[in-house]
Amino acid sequence: MTETRQIVLASRPEGTPTPENFRLETVTLAEPGEGEMLVRTIWLSLDPYMRGRMNAGKSYAAPVEVGGVMEAGCVGEVIASRNTWFASGDIVQGPFGWADHAISDGVGVRKIDPNVAPIQTSLGVLGMPGITAWVGLNTIAEAKAGETIVVSAATGAVGGVVGQLAKAKGLRTVGVAGGQEKCTFAVQELGYDACLDHRATDGAGLAAQIAEAAPQGIDIYFESVGGTTLEGVLPNLNDHARIPLCGMIAWYNGKGIDTAPPLPLIWRNILTRRLRVQGFIVFDHFHRFGDFLTEVAPMVADGRLRYRETVTEGLENAPGAFLAMLEGGNFGKTLVKVGPDP
Ligand SMILES: NC(=O)c1ccc[n+]([C@@H]2O[C@H](COP(=O)([O-])OP(=O)(O)OC[C@H]3O[C@@H](n4cnc5c(N)ncnc54)[C@H](OP(=O)(O)O)[C@@H]3O)[C@@H](O)[C@H]2O)c1
Repeated sequence: MTETRQIVLASRPEGTPTPENFRLETVTLAEPGEGEMLVRTIWLSLDPYMRGRMNAGKSYAAPVEVGGVMEAGCVGEVIASRNTWFASGDIVQGPFGWADHAISDGVGVRKIDPNVAPIQTSLGVLGMPGITAWVGLNTIAEAKAGETIVVSAATGAVGGVVGQLAKAKGLRTVGVAGGQEKCTFAVQELGYDACLDHRATDGAGLAAQIAEAAPQGIDIYFESVGGTTLEGVLPNLNDHARIPLCGMIAWYNGKGIDTAPPLPLIWRNILTRRLRVQGFIVFDHFHRFGDFLTEVAPMVADGRLRYRETVTEGLENAPGAFLAMLEGGNFGKTLVKVGPDP
């Protein structure tokens, strides 16, 4: 029998979540049954989609129940196994949740080779955010050399990969990020041609800056945020521009919805500029994971693709790190170090 700490959803947030929406509990896990294994969490991934899981109601995935363990992708070590595919000592990535230990039946779990890259990259640049960037850019946007792309949340887990893959493909890359430090990093470390600070201006001001940074107009807008960034982008879109609609984090907590660009304005832009807006959810594309790794893992290994991480120590600090990330407090992939890395 293993005692574990876990963080559960204590209550559903109204608007911006608070620490009170989470509760740390200690429970005793049963021994792994036939086909199951016990996993010790090493790394816990914090992702914006978790905000959606805190809400009741239908979405593309079921909500976390009140009292239920918060969902998360994690990297852990198999401690005991009665599953024929996994052995004690294996390093695995899977949906183990906000907990020190978890019992898993192996569904959605894959082995990680620690010799390929640091194991936590399987939650970031070589994991779900990485393939989101790769699919959004290549399959959804059909990016081509010579085009101009604007990338929102440009230094984040997804955006940082989008910008670098687009640059490597020969696009002009314009990032939009929160704050001068992130913008400097975007240009100097991630290779963006320009980066604009959405927190230092309003939609009209950002539109003027984008017009300068993208003199040929925008062919692709990688949309992860909505809000001011979308306002700045809209007037600069070229005819037949594509918008892979990946996220809208500026509105996840309900803030700014009253002042958002009205639907008739957006609809008119889609019509008159013949835009192609395509929402996508990464799990529809997980069958392409092998192709993604074949292309991107060597770029990470030889330093062509850079990444940055914000690491918080201790499971108990996960709620604070999550709340900070929703407001832009992270710089690159948001991770919690839950236990030692062997
Ligand atoms: N469709 C899918 O399957 C899929 C998969 C993964 C992620 N996503 C979406 O992709 C987006 C990025 O996810 P991520 O994991 O890479 O997170 P991230 O970019 O590493 O972190 C979130 C970032 O959002 C930005 N942000 C927060 N509030 C904002 C606002 N009001 N206006 C503009 N930017 C704001 C902040 O960046 P700044 O400080 O630069 O503003 C913050 O750092 C999210 O919308 C997420 O839901 C979608």
